[in-house]
Order: sequence, then C-alpha cells, then structure tokens
Amino acid sequence: MATPRAAAAVAAARPSTPRRRARARAGDGRHLDATADAVRAAGVAARRAAPRTGRAEDGEEDARGRRAVYVETYGCQMNVNDSEVMMAVLEGAGYDETKEVNDADVILINTCAIRDKAEAKIWQRLAYFRSLGNGKKRSEKPVVGVLGCMAERIKEKLLEADRLADIVAGPDAYRDLPNLIDAVVGNPGGKAMNVQLSVEETYADIIPVREAGSHSAFVTIMRGCDNACAFCIVPYTRGRERSRDLASIMYEIRLLSEQGVKEVTLLGQNVNSYAGEPASATTTDFLSSLRGESKDPIAELASASTERLASASGSAFVGYADGFASRYDPERKRAGTIQFAELLDKVASVDPEMRIRFTSPHPKDFPDDVLRVIRDRPNVSKCLHMPAQSGSSATLERMARGYTRESYFALIDRVKAMIPGCAITTDIISGFCGETEDDHEDTVSLMSAIGYEQAFMFAYSEREGTAGQRHQIDDVPEDVKQRRLQEVIDAFRARAAEKQQMEIGSTHCVLVEGPSKKNSDEWTGKTDTSKWVVFEKNDAIGKYAGDEDAPTSGSYGVKPGDYVAVRVTGCSTGTLFGQVLGKTSLVEFQNLHGAQWTTPKSSNGASAR
Ligand code: 5AD
Ligand code: SF4
Repeated sequence: MATPRAAAAVAAARPSTPRRRARARAGDGRHLDATADAVRAAGVAARRAAPRTGRAEDGEEDARGRRAVYVETYGCQMNVNDSEVMMAVLEGAGYDETKEVNDADVILINTCAIRDKAEAKIWQRLAYFRSLGNGKKRSEKPVVGVLGCMAERIKEKLLEADRLADIVAGPDAYRDLPNLIDAVVGNPGGKAMNVQLSVEETYADIIPVREAGSHSAFVTIMRGCDNACAFCIVPYTRGRERSRDLASIMYEIRLLSEQGVKEVTLLGQNVNSYAGEPASATTTDFLSSLRGESKDPIAELASASTERLASASGSAFVGYADGFASRYDPERKRAGTIQFAELLDKVASVDPEMRIRFTSPHPKDFPDDVLRVIRDRPNVSKCLHMPAQSGSSATLERMARGYTRESYFALIDRVKAMIPGCAITTDIISGFCGETEDDHEDTVSLMSAIGYEQAFMFAYSEREGTAGQRHQIDDVPEDVKQRRLQEVIDAFRARAAEKQQMEIGSTHCVLVEGPSKKNSDEWTGKTDTSKWVVFEKNDAIGKYAGDEDAPTSGSYGVKPGDYVAVRVTGCSTGTLFGQVLGKTSLVEFQNLHGAQWTTPKSSNGASAR
C-alpha cells in the first residue's frame, strides 16, 4: 500500500464527477513518460503542448475547439480496454468523449472479427453511422472510423467499395489515431489508414481512461497470439505475442489500488503465456522519469516498483502443464523472462484487498507453479477459465490445440486437487471441420463430466486466412452445427443447475457491484468464484464475525465496492440469491474461514427461484 501522503494526493487528484474526471484527464499528464515520447513521435505533441484555455464548467467548447468523439465497442474485454487506451490518446490530442452519437464530430467503432455474426452487426452499425451525415454539408459530416480486429481484413472494402468508413486503424495503431483523423477532417472524400501490426506495441505507458467510480478495472499485460489454433483469426488480426514490461504493470496496479479499485482483471489473448523482460532500458527510463515528478504520488509508486523489480530478474522456463505442447519454441521466448506465475504473484502482493482475475488463458500455460500462486494468494480469484474447445482428441488435433481429451481431464483433476472448490469455465466450438457424431458425443460427455460453472459455446464460423479455412473443409452442415451446439448447451446447463443448487447454504465474500437492474431494493455482487449474487439492501448490518446462521446488526451501510458476507438462500440458472450477514474484507473473511467462501452446512429448506 502507498503512504497516506500518496493516497491523499491521489484522492485529491481523483475527480468525483464524470465531467471533472474528463477535465482532469484531458491535460493532466496521465500518459506516462514513454508515451509522451511516442505521442510526440506520432506528431501529436504540438496539440498537447498548446496552452489550454480551459474548458468551461458548463461544458461549452473551449477556445482550442475540442472535438467530440463517440466510441462503440464490440468483442472481448481486451477490446473494451483498447477503447480506454484509445480514449487516453485522443483526450491528450483534444477530444472529449460523448455518449450521444448525434453530437459527435468523430464516430469510432472498435470491432471484433471472431465470428461472422460479430462482423454482420458491425456492417449494420456502419451503415447507420454513415446515414447520420445525410443532408449535412460535407464539412459537417462526422468522420467515421473502423478500428480493431476487422480493420486489416476488410480495409479495401471499407474504404473503397462500400465507402462506409473514412479511417481504418488496426489494434496496434491507436497512437496514430489523431493523425489519421486530422488527415480526413476538412478533406472531404479523404481516406486514412494504418493497419500495421507491431511486434512491440503494448501501450505500456498509457493509462487507460476508465469509467468514473468503477470498482473494477482491466489491465492488459500482453497482446497478440502465437498459437495459431486452426479456427482462430486472432493471430491474423492482432499479430504476434508480446508482453508488457513488469514495471508499467506494477505501476498501473498500484495506481488502481490507490484509487480504490477492488477488482482487476489482467488481460491478454493468451494471458498466461506472459513473458516480460526483466529490466529493459525502457523500464529504467520509465521509472527514473516517474521519480522526477517529485511531488506526485507517481514518484513513490515508481520507487516501490523499483524495489519489487529488484527481485524480478527472470527465470528458466518451467514448461507447460503435463501432457500439453506448443508449436512454437518456448525456450526461445521465455527463458530468462518473468513468467506468468511470478507476475501474478507480484500483482497479487500489491493490495490484499484487491481481487485479481485474468483472461483469456490457454490450458497449456497452467503449469503447477501457476496453480500454486492461485492457491496460495487469497486475493487471486478461484475461478479459472479453461477453454477446452472440444472434448474429442481427434477434433483437438485438427484444431491444433496441443492437447488431448485425456491431458485436459488430467489438468482439471490437478486443479481440483490443488485448489479445492475452484470454479471452472470454458469455451466450446461445435461443428469444427471434420467433426463426427462420435467427436460431438465426446464434447457432450466432457460437459457432463466436468461440470463447468460457466461456458461460452459457439457454432464454428469459418474465418478467412486461418489454417482451418486454408487446409480443412467446413463440412458440418449449418443445421447439424446448430443441433450439436444445442446439445452441448443442454449438457452444460444440466450440470450448471446442479452446481447452483449445491451453493444453497454456503456463505460467500461478495464484492458489491451496484443496484440490481430488476429491483432497486437489491444489490448485485460477485463471489470470488465469479458468480453473480443478488441480495436485499440492508443498511443496518454490523461486522461479520463468522456466524453464518444470523445476520449481524449495526450501523454499517453497504455501497458498491464493499465486501460483504452473503449467505446463499436460493438460485436461478445464472444467479444466486442470498441474505447479507455483515460487512467484511477479503483478509477478514479469509482469516475466519480459510477461503473466500464456505461450503453449505445445511440447505435450510431453501429452494431454487
Ligand atoms: N468460430 C466459432 N467460435 C470461435 N472462437 C474462436 N474462433 C471461432 C470461430 N472461428 C471461440 C473460441 C474462443 C472464443 C473466444 O471464441 O471458443 O475461445
Ligand atoms: Fe474479437 Fe478476438 Fe479481436 Fe477480441 S481479440 S475483439 S474476441 S477477434
């Protein structure tokens, strides 16, 4: 934890309303030092350095003429975090975000290419955005930009044939956005594009612009993917794997802790293949320039990061989980680097009251040392995403996943043995090339045998350029894909319903997220195992002392960002219902029970809703 002085400084700097937050962000140097260089290199410095005349309190445009940008984001959490990074770049270059598309000078759509359906939706939105310019003078039509994963794939179509976009920017080109926009503003009919993929870009030095007052945050730790699973377009849309340096990750985590964030999700396309450089030249520059800002809490954070880095010199590659393989040479990439287990341990050590989650992992990168950190750190979530994709060894082979049904089962057994009660979630694709009825039955039986807490299940959607598209035949008819998908979903649901029932009578340490959408007299929150819990508001609770049979009474109010002990009294398919027992903290709950939840003592006659 930081010193009180640092905490106070950050609190004072933290704006309390969205407007104040927007102002503070726009010119307050939230880009760290290296970004400033990079932004300068991108030609943005002139705009940032220009004297601010101040934005009027009532929101009218300031004398520099700040522009309004509207951003719509599709796809995964990584895309959400990318949009936050993009906003940081744009705010530094004279833009403010608007939630009203009709007010926007610039409309940006951050896209996903993972399945055909995701793309279809985006084409519809683009046609709509274009129509907003109808009847307006050319100079007043909003600039429309397509960003992210669809950019590379469809750049010609977007700019030339359909003319639905003015600018196209790939996932590694966000620093260039102000330049791209400038190139088309006031240049009717102009087009600008940067879809260059980088082997280095991690946006390490940019502090994303996050939702004001949110208690959860995403922190991207690596980008790209080298796995080349046969179905997946990600390596083509997002490029090679690269890891963000440890110092900048630690800095951001500490900053979030100072800001009262209670849940951080570490992100990466293959998050647990993290391989950070121990202490690069960039790291040293980055830290020393932070220390230069002497009155800023950043300086203290930088010193603390240096202490932590002293022990982070990289280590030998410990290998993959037993029975798992990879097509690329792991030694070349990871020997001597800081690997995921060490990173996770360091991140978790920053603030014991901050829950750490991570996504999206590959099962191959769960060697025992990663499992040990998850087991031993109370604030690392006991919910692991283990994307199986299929339960058939033959299909897994065709998918080039690097494991068999048996090795996947063995890994799950190891997780369950080392981390009792750990929730497990998965991704499944039905109807991949060559999938037979027997292969499909293997997936159904996997769903029944493992009993996932959550599953994301999809029909295979062929993507251009992938190994699946180039070397295999998409030979499962659409109706068969859909029928198999439904059977997989049914198998998942049957076990998930049982698991929900088994929760009744248990007590969880729940992070309060906000009022329930359905009933404002209820709060919603999340358990350590990532389950949603709804419970009645009660502002007369006391401190939880371990008695699961009776709620405490006192004068503690409950608000979003608090941890409370909640006894589960009922459930539906996706939600637990409960009664709040008292106020608690991660550490206090752990001291009382040895974990962030207790198993049911009795069902208390409770029933499913
Ligand atoms: N078709 C269907 N689902 C896919 N996924 C990835 N590529 C495809 C595809 N071509 C799924 C995988 C992955 C999740 C993010 O999306 O299950 O884990
Ligand atoms: Fe979609 Fe994958 Fe890109 Fe995320 S990384 S936005 S899931 S294509």
